[in-house]
Amino acid sequence: MKNKNKNGILFSLKDINFSYLLGNQKISALNALTLEIPAHALITVSGPSGSGKSTLLNLLGMIEPLQEGEILFQNESFSTMSPVRKNQIRKFDIGFIFQQFHLIPVLSAQENVEYFLRRQGLASEEIERRTHEALDSVGLWEHRKKKPSELSGGQKQRVAIARALAKKPAVIIGDEPTGSLDQKTGRGIMEIFDGLVKEKKLSVILTTHDPMVLSFSQQNFHFHDGHLIKDAQP
Ligand SMILES: Nc1ncnc2c1ncn2[C@@H]1O[C@H](COP(=O)(O)OP(=O)(O)OP(=O)(O)O)[C@@H](O)[C@H]1O
Ligand SMILES: [Mg+2]
Repeated sequence: MKNKNKNGILFSLKDINFSYLLGNQKISALNALTLEIPAHALITVSGPSGSGKSTLLNLLGMIEPLQEGEILFQNESFSTMSPVRKNQIRKFDIGFIFQQFHLIPVLSAQENVEYFLRRQGLASEEIERRTHEALDSVGLWEHRKKKPSELSGGQKQRVAIARALAKKPAVIIGDEPTGSLDQKTGRGIMEIFDGLVKEKKLSVILTTHDPMVLSFSQQNFHFHDGHLIKDAQP
């Protein structure tokens, strides 16, 4: 087993350039990006629309392929990882959360959490235990039988957090997870993330436009036009 996180750095990025091809036009989304994301912290990524926030998260989560530069995840280089190893990380180490929740509408809250654990091939007692613990930690165990359509926006996002948590990932990556919630509900979600970082030593990386979300972060990376502008304490 590798000595993970020995320097307290979760992701290390060096000289990243990333562009999209739109027809024959090249659209640059990230430029000369070098940064380190610490582990066991709540990290935010801010910047105007189109500044490259989602692109950065998609690179970290290996949803987009690396084009130029180097990314290390827990000291392991993306460029030398086998496809099997990459899948393993996506499946076990990274929990994703989205603005629009992405729950399966025909499944209950409990089944939504269980579904992903089944795909990990866990034993049924372990699935039950993890599902109970994850739904409890977001305060939703009593609503476990409800389908997404019977839950509020904040409750749906809490199911999505439980689903990510139940993987026992090293990091939860959220692309504007409070973006479609009102301030009070969004604050409730941020309090859950804050507790998970402080009590469970989880790492959380979120994009946001919202000062309320930034107020919870230990470090913020601000982007403009694909460039990292500042790397500051909010
Ligand atoms: N699939 C794509 N194809 C082509 N261009 C894209 C694609 N996705 C993003 N872009 C472009 O890349 C740049 C960065 O986009 P990105 O989605 O990372 O920004 P963002 O900061 O997440 O914006 P928002 O706050 O609106 O979500 C923008 O110029 C955008 O238009
Ligand atoms: Mg985005």
